Amino acid sequence: MPTLNWIGKDKVVSHHQEVPFKVLKKEYTFNGDKSDNLIIHGDNLVALKSLLPKYENRIDIMYIDPPYNTGNENWVYNDNVNDPRIKKWIGEVVGAEGEDLSRHDKWLCMMYPRLKLLHKLLSDTGILFISIDDNELHNLILICKEIFGNANTDILIWRKNGRQSNTKNIVRFKTTHEYVVACFKNKAKTQIGKIKHLPNWKKEKKNVDKDPRGPWESGIISKEQSRPDSPNYYSITSPSGNVTTREFYYPKEELLRLLADNRIYFPKAGEGVPRLKIFENEEQEYFFDSIMDQFATFTDAKGEIEEILGDRNIFPTPKPVKLVKEIIRATSKKDSIILDSFAGSGTTGHAVLDLNNEDGGNRKFIMVEMMDYCEDITSERMRRVINGYSDKEPINDSFTYYSLGDNLFDNFGNINPAVDIQDLRQYVYYTETKKDITQMNENKYYLGTNYKTDYYFYYEKDKVCELNYSFLSTLNRKNDSIIIYADTCTLGENDLNNFGIIFKKTPRDIVKI
Ligand SMILES: C[S@@+](CC[C@H](N)C(=O)[O-])C[C@H]1O[C@@H](n2cnc3c(N)ncnc32)[C@H](O)[C@@H]1O
Repeated sequence: MPTLNWIGKDKVVSHHQEVPFKVLKKEYTFNGDKSDNLIIHGDNLVALKSLLPKYENRIDIMYIDPPYNTGNENWVYNDNVNDPRIKKWIGEVVGAEGEDLSRHDKWLCMMYPRLKLLHKLLSDTGILFISIDDNELHNLILICKEIFGNANTDILIWRKNGRQSNTKNIVRFKTTHEYVVACFKNKAKTQIGKIKHLPNWKKEKKNVDKDPRGPWESGIISKEQSRPDSPNYYSITSPSGNVTTREFYYPKEELLRLLADNRIYFPKAGEGVPRLKIFENEEQEYFFDSIMDQFATFTDAKGEIEEILGDRNIFPTPKPVKLVKEIIRATSKKDSIILDSFAGSGTTGHAVLDLNNEDGGNRKFIMVEMMDYCEDITSERMRRVINGYSDKEPINDSFTYYSLGDNLFDNFGNINPAVDIQDLRQYVYYTETKKDITQMNENKYYLGTNYKTDYYFYYEKDKVCELNYSFLSTLNRKNDSIIIYADTCTLGENDLNNFGIIFKKTPRDIVKI
């Protein structure tokens, strides 16, 4: 597969690993004591890293709307990657070479490590949607293919303006669309886009094999033109012994499950291309049209900003709620976490709240915004949506606002003494188990138990904590296996083995994300 090269690429391909880990600092919760909806004020590169311990591989749907790099310098936010913060960051990461970067090089340097982190956060069946226009579409597609895999990207089209036809004197094209690039963690495993055509329900349904489930129609489940390098390219054998080798819309194990359930129909007495039996009482599969021309326009989005915040010009480039809502409706589960790391006016959070309100879902949002209007625009919009605005009823929900806190480790990997010990304990437990600390009271060094292993983090800021007999005598052991972090250990190999202890040295053995 061809890959894209640009000045500075070599400096950013692994940069996400070098981004220092910062803890998130809770500022306040709106409408309750605790909320899993998060708004984070800060650069998303750092914020995404802070989310890794808890959310790695857990985010189902992401919608991002990064700067399009249009060359327009006059907007409130940085569209050109020329914001002083991003310029400083590029200078530090790319070095002297950074001076020569074109705006496309800079944009790619900005996007690449952020996409790498988004890829890590995305669940195995998750989808990242990226709004973009012609300025960077072609570059974006190439880096997405590099990061997500060649077969894992699709391009959707959004009609951003109403139809404008003037057939008499056409002088130039008027661009009335933008794109939404969909990046799958693993398209073959992801629900959307599996069955291409639905049967025509107007036709009479039949029951040629007298299936007790009743009459059925059949739908196509493999591609007209198969790609032999696809993970879904395989053979199946019909009951009459005929072997069909094609690219299917299902992974093989799923097709075999359907076969065992007598859901696969082989036309032409077993010699035809296999199809899926779909019964009359079954819900139709939902198809997402790749041309999104009914999902509201840019003008609608400006109207929404005016209605909610009272000034249509307070934010220059909002997206309409409907666009984001329909994407989320089509692809999320009712308890999915939805992330937007270029939050702007907070359309994604609004779409999540609206959709939950409509279908009784319990989806959660996480939004990140770098600019100071994170409080006055992004969060303020959420407050107004929750409180009810215009003729809209209040929505019973809440959010917690965070800023970026201290670095957890210094450049040498030592623990930053300014960090709250509770944050450190949480980080250690997450990196070990991907779980929240649940029990804290019985021994202050006890983190929790996971898969029959007890975890202890024996650490004090101003004291060397030694794993020895005396410390062991304070433990209330629950399991045979135990992992203990401490500064030093005076127990010998035999003792550690006999007591079932794995000693981990602080800070050396704490995983640095
Ligand atoms: C095109 S706007 C997003 C608009 C949003 N979809 C809406 O409907 O309002 C892009 C946003 O990303 C923010 N942004 C740009 N770079 C960022 C970064 N590195 N970290 C966090 N936010 C960033 C900008 O400040 C801007 O608000």
